[in-house]
Amino acid sequence: MSNSDQVIIFDTTLRDGEQSPGISLDQGEKLEIAEQLARLGVDVIEAGFPVASQGDFEAVQAIARSVRGPVICGLSRTALADIDRCWEAIQDAERARIHTFIATSEIHMRNKLRMTPEQVKQEAARAVAHARSYTDDVEFSPEDASRSDFDFMCEVLQVAVDNGATTLNIPDTVGYGIPEEYAARLRAVREKVSGDYVISTHCHDDLGLAVANSLAGVHAGARQVECTINGIGERAGNAAMEEVVMALRTRPDYFGGVDTRIRAEELARTSRLVSRLTGYPVQYNKAVVGRNAFAHESGIHQDGVLKERTTYEIIDPSAVGAGGSQIVLGKHSGRHAFADTLKKMGYDLHGDALNQAFTRFKELADRKVQLTDADLEALVAEEIGDTVRYAFQLVSVDCHGGTNTTPTATVVLDHGGEKLEATAHGDGMVEAACTAIKQATGISGRLTDYSVTSVTGGVDALADVALRFEVDGVAMPGRGLSTDVVEASARAFLNAINRIVRVRDTGDDRTAVDRPGSLRGV
Ligand code: KIV
Ligand code: ZN
Repeated sequence: MSNSDQVIIFDTTLRDGEQSPGISLDQGEKLEIAEQLARLGVDVIEAGFPVASQGDFEAVQAIARSVRGPVICGLSRTALADIDRCWEAIQDAERARIHTFIATSEIHMRNKLRMTPEQVKQEAARAVAHARSYTDDVEFSPEDASRSDFDFMCEVLQVAVDNGATTLNIPDTVGYGIPEEYAARLRAVREKVSGDYVISTHCHDDLGLAVANSLAGVHAGARQVECTINGIGERAGNAAMEEVVMALRTRPDYFGGVDTRIRAEELARTSRLVSRLTGYPVQYNKAVVGRNAFAHESGIHQDGVLKERTTYEIIDPSAVGAGGSQIVLGKHSGRHAFADTLKKMGYDLHGDALNQAFTRFKELADRKVQLTDADLEALVAEEIGDTVRYAFQLVSVDCHGGTNTTPTATVVLDHGGEKLEATAHGDGMVEAACTAIKQATGISGRLTDYSVTSVTGGVDALADVALRFEVDGVAMPGRGLSTDVVEASARAFLNAINRIVRVRDTGDDRTAVDRPGSLRGV
């Protein structure tokens, strides 16, 4: 058992996080997030669930082949064929881990698995042994651990260790645990299960306790925390990495100096990237990375902070990369300066991706005097896509309206070289533009969410539109950026439609796949 003072940060944004309703990242987006996680300094990236779909398999494989630094992990059920597929996806990684799991709670075994406890135990033993034939880094999880009979769960954990598991993860799958109780369970596992293994937390947030439970787990001896950026994940989500990391770093007095290898100054940027690519906004008052996390409204607080920052701030904003935006480029900047600035910001774009990003940069810079680092980040995120171009590109959107005029919009789209044009009316110009896009693409559905934020402050800020468009019960996020709100909305709307088309064309419908945390599965 490990007693080190380093906590392994196991990031599952691309696996459990990607299981959030309505998130569907393509390969290019997953790669971009994985590269950023490596820059952030995570120890392990759970890159996906390779057997879930061809798209998942290919994304995990691409990450394993190109991302250097962290261990690349694939999730697998206990079926031997699943483990084979998982290994096929991760085998080219610098260091590869197989994470296999099976439920041990009565409710899951009886209703979902329809297996006896003895069968579950055998499955776990066989799966871990098979995984060990591929790699010496094998993690085992008894799913729904916090509702499992403790003695039985320990029997399963013991066979997992005896067959070669090196990490034992204790998932609070349904977010049922309470900190003291979860910590006691982990301590008891450490006492009862013999062998050399790292004990890990994996907590869901159904009761808003995921971070508290994870930290209680660390206090009880866990030396791996499974978490996601912004706390995204199945249902109410997983433990938020940024909160776990900053709690350990801010309270060494309580946690005995136990720390992580995370480069915290990359947290804010990672949070923005994940938010933008997943279409999941970060709540304003979110700890550590919310836009109000370091904002002081009351006069007394402002006065205190101006006199001495630590009066009301327990974290220095710059320590998590939340310093003010800097002005970086304007319309006279050339391609070289553009590529160079992006590189300094950690984005190494080449070929088509660089060309597209530069074209968009020029369009925006022509309309806005100067672009900040936050603007550039948003722009790059918008241009990161799969190697396959999306089906529809926005060529132009023109609209007019006003108090006494019916709002009307005309859009022109490019569809594989063919120009599609449509004109529509609406209650407002945004609605008119979206209706015109529906007509031009022939895709109809329901706009379920819509929000506009500004990337930075000020009237000349870029508008960042996030929305959700539902077609046949599948809701897809879309995100768009422009100096103009109607154009940003049109871009976001088309982005959602393109994602829907991609899912239809590739048949990579992850909504049809059994997700490990759900009661369907195995
Ligand atoms: O929540 C859960 O139980 C999981 C397991 C697959 C670890 O995500
Ligand atoms: Zn989970």
